[in-house]
Amino acid sequence: MDRDLLAELALLRDLGFTHLDIPKAAAATGEHAQIDAAARTPVTSRRQSPPAAAPKPRASAAGDASGPATGDITTAESLDDLCALSAACNRCRLARGRTQVVYGVGNSDADLMFVGEAPGRDEDLQGEPFVGRAGQLLTDIIRAMKLSREMVYIGNVIKCRPPENRNPEPDELDACRPLIRRQIELIKPRVIVTLGRFALQSLTERAYSISSLRGKWLAYGDIKLMPTYHPAYLLRNPAAKKDVWADMKKVMAELGIEA
Ligand code: URA
Repeated sequence: MDRDLLAELALLRDLGFTHLDIPKAAAATGEHAQIDAAARTPVTSRRQSPPAAAPKPRASAAGDASGPATGDITTAESLDDLCALSAACNRCRLARGRTQVVYGVGNSDADLMFVGEAPGRDEDLQGEPFVGRAGQLLTDIIRAMKLSREMVYIGNVIKCRPPENRNPEPDELDACRPLIRRQIELIKPRVIVTLGRFALQSLTERAYSISSLRGKWLAYGDIKLMPTYHPAYLLRNPAAKKDVWADMKKVMAELGIEA
């Protein structure tokens, strides 16, 4: 049996599925999620055109970005403009150590947006959020939700890799917050899923505890916000996968996706 398929089945089992009906070839290629998702109306109704991935900033030397990226992040009129501005960002010390700004990826018209913490080594090198081990798990969760990475939007509250993947500092979160806020304003998702403590705390600007709030709906303006655990935490604590799946089922119900 295909190794990807085996891994996916193991994930689904960990997430609490007891009855699996996954066409083998489709699951192995990821088609299953897209076919099912295409059959849905509520979530896809806003996506008549093919999902457009936000352009990724290419390697820019920290702090000395060349080019005309001037302007105000808070009033950038498109994701492309915001992306160009962020590629030149020098608002905090993390600019010095980055290979590139990890801006965000996915459908610019997504109903569902995942917001994580900060890029790690793989993301810093590739310029795309959630492409390492935790990213693979997030991708599997998205597929288990009958969606694909191309259908949702994925970003972080911190756009540049902290050294040695340390926790972001409060002033770094403050410096980066206008960027994620503007990204959300431009994408206008119906639901935001925050992954882990830093994403929850940075977006809400409250010292919330993730373990007490996960699974409970919050509001980010008029957008519904569902806090859940970070996939990296799930890699260390696989028993918590069932909690995340319970949270994602609430998100699916909100978006009209049948579990
Ligand atoms: N962890 C995050 O929070 N974001 C990434 O992009 C990768 C790992």
